[in-house]
Amino acid sequence: MVTVSLGVLVSGRGSNLQAIIDAINGGKLNAAIRIVISNKKDAYALERAKKAGIKTIFIDPKDFLSWQDYEQQMVSQLKANGVELVILAGFMRILTPYFVNAYKDRILNIHPALLPSFPGLHAQQQALEYGVKVTGITVHVVDEGMDTGRIILQRVVDVLSNDTVKSLSERMLRIEHQVYPEAIALYCK
Ligand code: GRF
Repeated sequence: MVTVSLGVLVSGRGSNLQAIIDAINGGKLNAAIRIVISNKKDAYALERAKKAGIKTIFIDPKDFLSWQDYEQQMVSQLKANGVELVILAGFMRILTPYFVNAYKDRILNIHPALLPSFPGLHAQQQALEYGVKVTGITVHVVDEGMDTGRIILQRVVDVLSNDTVKSLSERMLRIEHQVYPEAIALYCK
């Protein structure tokens, strides 16, 4: 079976990155992470990647005149490292059509809601404020819209009557860690 070359974009703690690393090491996902790119210098995700022996780069947005120049640098790093599929794992920037077209149908994202409900930021808070009884996780292909691309996998999570944003987010995160590697494997297949 073919081993798919992944590039992971991160901005923060990187727990989903860790889940993907663990799935690869545990033989559940036939892929290799060629590079982890962060737009934040202090992202803990970079430490996780280094510990796993994965190449990392911090690309400082301050070094670029525009976001498009920044994206060009990301694309050239991804291509130089042979990346076939880009995984957004807590990458806190919207990608422009330039990037989306450079990796057309080859960018995946995980979103903590059952899309098309509650797109954008603070999805768990949006779910609690609306009062839904179930929410969930969506892994989707990234297109030019905000959380609008083709859905690969979804999983339902119950909202409990005493849930807070913190308790719901924590419970959902554990499910995210199962769902993301599973969805990547499915998409690669
Ligand atoms: C996750 O909740 C994910 O759904 C969202 O950003 C968060 C990233 O968390 N897109 P982590 O950095 O993977 O721990």
